[in-house]
Amino acid sequence: MFSDKDRAHFSNLETPFYYYDLALLKNTLNTCKTAADSHNFHVHYAMKANFNPVVLQQIQKVGFGADCVSGGEVAKAIELGFGKDKVVFAGVGKSDKEINNALDNDIFCFNVESVQELSVINELAEKKQKVAKIAIRINPNVDAHTHANITTGLDENKFGVNSWDMQACADVLNLSPNLEFIGIHFHIGSQITNLDVYKNLCIRVNEFAKWFEDHGFKVKVLNVGGGLGIDYHNPNQQIPNFEAYFKIFADFLEIKPYQEVHFELGRALVGQSASLISRVLYVKNGKKKNFIILDAGMTELMRPALYQAYHKIENISLPTGEGIVKYDVVGPICESTDCFGKEVELQQTFRNDLIAIRSTGAYGEVMASHYNLRETIATVSSEDIV
Ligand code: LLP
Repeated sequence: MFSDKDRAHFSNLETPFYYYDLALLKNTLNTCKTAADSHNFHVHYAMKANFNPVVLQQIQKVGFGADCVSGGEVAKAIELGFGKDKVVFAGVGKSDKEINNALDNDIFCFNVESVQELSVINELAEKKQKVAKIAIRINPNVDAHTHANITTGLDENKFGVNSWDMQACADVLNLSPNLEFIGIHFHIGSQITNLDVYKNLCIRVNEFAKWFEDHGFKVKVLNVGGGLGIDYHNPNQQIPNFEAYFKIFADFLEIKPYQEVHFELGRALVGQSASLISRVLYVKNGKKKNFIILDAGMTELMRPALYQAYHKIENISLPTGEGIVKYDVVGPICESTDCFGKEVELQQTFRNDLIAIRSTGAYGEVMASHYNLRETIATVSSEDIV
């Protein structure tokens, strides 16, 4: 994956930094776009996965819409040229200020997550003499079979309107002239690798679409969210199988001729295109453990500490030692959870070796923090290397 040219370039740079492989990013985006277009499906990029302008510009060029979860994301999407008519806005706690700004921008759709939120959007839209387009985000109680911290579609999760509140939604909609119901929305979780989960989702989508149509609401948009996982163990096997993913929805959704199917993909589009590049500060060889202490920590990549997430770790310096050694690869932060991997098999490693933590394009850089007064780190793109 990393060439001699990359290595030479990296060795002169201050570490840590996020490295973006733009050729891979473009390839992934185009593969997804082609697969979606073949079914006439619409893709909104879930901006929360990565909002580095280097990444967003590529995504905007491909023509995807934007899936936003805050006023900041809505503003950034519009500023970078995503069409307002392709911006969707979800979130369980939209503030009045955020709703007002989105109304001023005439976004495509609010994905509404509670009965009360429907009334609030109606009131705020009325004050502006506008009609807000809305989709009801439904919690379908479908198990995504992923890590509990990134599961969103079960009854115990805070997201969406529960299935037993559909009638309450219908009642508010019927009394709200400043709301235009356009469809239904779902998002059941992230890093989903078992595609059968999506078959179960399709069954629930069909049921809810029928419920709304039976109650006199035309369902024009079926938004099935995102969640498609990537293969963290094989970062070089890079592009997810978008064709197989979309085919499930084409096969199992009962799509009427007037209905559009929308997706909100994040991780699958950007996850494999970045690595966190770090330098070894110290090697500590103990009786029970060998530690590699990096200059990157949980402040730059929080996923392992937060979700016990696996990221492949590679020593990308040319080998100068002998054989393979097992190391716990840790960061410099004063927390015991600041660990990227335990018992990781690596070539014998030395101070100043370069370490790549792979598959960090999604929920990496964007979840960084300034804990311990750490600085924001640089972005390096493959196009900087000539
Ligand atoms: N739509 C909605 C409403 C969402 O909440 C999310 C992600 C997505 C779409 C995009 O999901 P994706 O295709 O990226 O799986 N920080 C966690 C992941 C949190 C996902 C939050 N919602 C992680 O590092 O694994």
